Amino acid sequence: MAKILVSDQISEKGLELLRKEMEVDYSPGLPKEDILQRIAEYEALMVRSGTKVTRDIIEKGTNLKIIGRAGVGVDNIDVESATERGIVVVNSPGGNTRAAAEHTIALMLALARNIPQAHRMLKQGQWQRSKFMGVEVYGKKLGIIGLGRIGREVAKRAKGLGMEVIACDPYISEEWAERIGVQLVDLPTLLSEADIVTIHTPLTKETRHLLGEKELRMMKKGARIINTARGGIVDEYALAKAIGEGIISGAAIDVFEQEPPPPDHPLLQLEQVIVTPHLGASTVEAQEYVAIDVAEQIVNFFKGIPPSSPVNLPVLPPEVLPLLQPHIQLMERIGKLLAGIGGKRIKKVEITYYGDITDTETSVLTRSLLKGLLEPVLSLPINIVNAPLIAESRGIGVSETKSSAPIDYANLSMVKLYSEEGIRTVGGTVVGKGEPRIVSIDGYRVDFVPEGIVLVTSHIDKPGMIGKVGTILGKNDINIAGMNVGRMERRGKAVMVLSVDENIPLSVLQEIEGIEGIERAWVVEF
Ligand code: NAD
Ligand code: MLT
Repeated sequence: MAKILVSDQISEKGLELLRKEMEVDYSPGLPKEDILQRIAEYEALMVRSGTKVTRDIIEKGTNLKIIGRAGVGVDNIDVESATERGIVVVNSPGGNTRAAAEHTIALMLALARNIPQAHRMLKQGQWQRSKFMGVEVYGKKLGIIGLGRIGREVAKRAKGLGMEVIACDPYISEEWAERIGVQLVDLPTLLSEADIVTIHTPLTKETRHLLGEKELRMMKKGARIINTARGGIVDEYALAKAIGEGIISGAAIDVFEQEPPPPDHPLLQLEQVIVTPHLGASTVEAQEYVAIDVAEQIVNFFKGIPPSSPVNLPVLPPEVLPLLQPHIQLMERIGKLLAGIGGKRIKKVEITYYGDITDTETSVLTRSLLKGLLEPVLSLPINIVNAPLIAESRGIGVSETKSSAPIDYANLSMVKLYSEEGIRTVGGTVVGKGEPRIVSIDGYRVDFVPEGIVLVTSHIDKPGMIGKVGTILGKNDINIAGMNVGRMERRGKAVMVLSVDENIPLSVLQEIEGIEGIERAWVVEF
């Protein structure tokens, strides 16, 4: 049974699911030093936003295969380190969208009507009606920064409250925004027009301090700010200053750069600022959903089922997966064949997909090719997560094209490999109920199933060649299981592929290479 460490609080429903299939160590709030000490024991790690899965944790996690984030934001996980080490990262992108949108609306209304402040006063025994004059949100302009999943849900709810909604999101189209009745504007326009600004972007290099001193000064006088996205998108110190100077009349903050914020944090000192301790996703419904979603992905991963929401892999619709499996196997085996026959110092790999395979997501096939190509020559663990990164770090250029040119098969994957020794091409197809076959090597037609041990020769087509190779193999007690010869013309150059039952030692291979007319011979183990 694979072992998983769950180091943040997650819903019991998710834990139940994990416990059925895995050995679960549930230690919410485990300090970093303890995680570092124990992480090597586990194949999986599941967190919310509390645990910071840093490079050192990932490096110590020598057995880690998968990290699950029960939520959306993966800014608490060093995804780059995980990818380098071939660890799959999964999350639950839509699971808490509604909860976060509802929390944003709750904060907006609480901010507009001073609810937390009035509540506190009354609990202290003070009945103060005039002190807490609020504003209506009806008819006000809401400016949404980031019109993704949560931004969109906030927009719909705000329109229901009678607000006018504008948004800034450079990565979506105007038509798309118009479809939900939102006008797209640039950031300066949004800041100068909105009565309330709400943030719903991820925290990235680009969005860190997206609202700094300069931007806050551009805001409409007396406007309000809500941040339920991530701490650090608003410069907290600049915000406190802008509130102090009366540029901004109030703010509602659910997320902080440092969580929990220090008690002397300037925003915690201001009466006009209302706060919650990162509660955006904290509903029973959302927590159950994200915990079950991520637990399922982790359990399935150990059964060989690709995850539905991978962060560092292409996302594949579930219905496409069974169709792609034999092609994934084919590409990995073409990679292995090319690793054997392709020559040293690979410079470039060009992949062209033809036929029915072009209708699907092929990047996972290219990743499988790279895995097969790199695995036999590197000591690092290589999988489809880190293979592109490793190819890049070794200076191997990779290109992928889809072609509609006519072919003799239902599908065809052609791989052209450029190395110091020249160019080699291998073509493969998937036939029948999903059998991978190699159908060409360097333009010679062959037809064999890439499995077991295979001897490949490039030789001159003349009488006796097959016999001579067969005699050497027989003399060394190596049984031939299948044979294939491809040639362009009589007595010209040819390729021979022999499937054998026993391993071919180097001395036997050298003897075969010594046969007059044999140019090169290789042994490939699939
Ligand atoms: P999403 O990926 O669906 O949407 C993010 C949007 O931001 C995208 O449309 C993207 O185009 C846009 N964007 C990116 N950079 C931008 C920029 N520079 N300017 C304007 N727009 C930009 O993400 P989501 O699921 O809607 O989540 C939004 C945020 O909310 C994330 O930071 C997430 O971590 C956070 N979140 C917080 C809580 C919580 O508990 N408070 C809960 C869930 C999500
Ligand atoms: C998220 O990104 O999903 C949220 O921050 C929710 C959380 O896990 O607390």
